[in-house]
Amino acid sequence: MPVSGENNPSSAHPSRRHVLLGGAALGAAAVSTLSPVTAAASTGPGRPPKGDVFTLGVASGEPEAHSVVLWTRLAPRPMAEDGLGGMSGRPVTVQWELARDERFRHVVRRGHQRTGADAGYAVHVEVAGLAPGHEYFYRFRCGRHLSPAGRTRTTPAPGTLGAGMVMAFASCSQYEHGYFTAYRHLAGDEPDLVLHLGDYIYEYTRDSYVSPDGNVRDHRGPETETLANYRQRYAQYRADTDLQAAHAVAPWLVVPDDHEVDNNWAADVYEKPHIPQPDFLRRRAAAFRAYYENMPLRRRNRPHGPDIRLYRTVSWGSLANFHMLDTRQYRDDQACDDGWKVCEDAADPARTLTGDEQEAWLLERFRRSRARWDLLGQQVFFARRMNASGATSMDAWDGYRGSRERISEGWLAAGVRNPVVLTGDVHTHWANELKANYADPDSDVIGTELVTSSITSGGNGADSDPGEDPNLRRNPHIKFFNAQRGYVRTRLTRDELRADFRVVDYVTEPGAPVRTRASFRVTDRHPGLTEVTPR
Ligand SMILES: [Fe+2]
Repeated sequence: MPVSGENNPSSAHPSRRHVLLGGAALGAAAVSTLSPVTAAASTGPGRPPKGDVFTLGVASGEPEAHSVVLWTRLAPRPMAEDGLGGMSGRPVTVQWELARDERFRHVVRRGHQRTGADAGYAVHVEVAGLAPGHEYFYRFRCGRHLSPAGRTRTTPAPGTLGAGMVMAFASCSQYEHGYFTAYRHLAGDEPDLVLHLGDYIYEYTRDSYVSPDGNVRDHRGPETETLANYRQRYAQYRADTDLQAAHAVAPWLVVPDDHEVDNNWAADVYEKPHIPQPDFLRRRAAAFRAYYENMPLRRRNRPHGPDIRLYRTVSWGSLANFHMLDTRQYRDDQACDDGWKVCEDAADPARTLTGDEQEAWLLERFRRSRARWDLLGQQVFFARRMNASGATSMDAWDGYRGSRERISEGWLAAGVRNPVVLTGDVHTHWANELKANYADPDSDVIGTELVTSSITSGGNGADSDPGEDPNLRRNPHIKFFNAQRGYVRTRLTRDELRADFRVVDYVTEPGAPVRTRASFRVTDRHPGLTEVTPR
């Protein structure tokens, strides 16, 4: 369906894009300790320039008012089966620098860090002492190799409302299902912050999960079970230059969903009803270790064996709190053996999706919040979503209704000003009004949910007429549905949150343009959605 708001970002902001998205041509003119080497151009997965160690790009994350995490991982041969990216096994030193300007004329911090096989040749630098609400640029050097530059920023100082910010969120990038064009466009939007809500990688071996449009690229290696497998898989994904562009444009906040470990896993329970996995906790430990190594996380998020503490809040001044949730590690097993079911057990208040500790933590964050917007960055569908037979998904909040009620009632009791749930997982775009009672269409709207489609998972997908979709007729609180690939761009100000549902028409070939399929506004103190002209 033709929609207004056609926008291919490759024509906008040429200067910064030249630096960040072009990858090359950065080092020669720079005045810094890292000169005079020239960064090597990246050429896509599988074919790094001979000897280049920065084939996986750079990233930043976990911004705070005075601090941010910088990340890279060395891998001259990303596809190496031992997961070490072609490195020798010996430790190496990596230099880094952070500047106020993209040409690195005004370097404000620099340092070096050792890394080696134990760390998967990843580098995590927690840079402190920065100014709040500032844009910075960073890069790394190892020997004669200079990395591409990334852009990052600190959050505004506590208590500062500021002029507003742009946050984009994404999920579900199955490498085999298509090209990461949507990541490239997300970079082109130049957000201040990116949230990734899970399924950053998929665990499957080649062609065991085939898109309806056929797989256009192949996973390397077996289904991921060992540390070497997961490291190799992250390297394959990270070698994609569209994904690298999205990392290089802004700091990220990440949470995993199921495919970073195993399809639909729950706590210590592996995927059903497949082959038993007596060593599932060992697999989980390998998956979390590789996840930490490959994400711009803080040291305090390092896993301990099969456990990783990832739920946390990042505040953007007093404008927004981003509460990042983990809905996999502490959940009860899916009720009624998972799947779409009419299931009495799903209503059992003893069941939990978050675990008691995380739930208590979140309710306390609600009570303490003075933010204009409180956003929950999480994985699975929050609003009720009932199909024509009255069944709901046992993997989503519908399968843990007590958890959903306690959290919704928690934000109401705490007087949270503007609660907004952000969701991934379902490979389709949705906009939902959250209800006090989903069975009663007249009950109060108590919050808003924005669900992002996948970057590639599910192949090209199709547009859909909201009026025709049975899910929408059955669930009047659902206001929008679209089954194309893309991401959601939001702009938050003191007065409103605006959400643009961005879509690409195809992913089985590179180069699809992006457009805004629909836009919605949430007004301060008025939960619920108003459709506005897309842009
Ligand atoms: Fe997914």
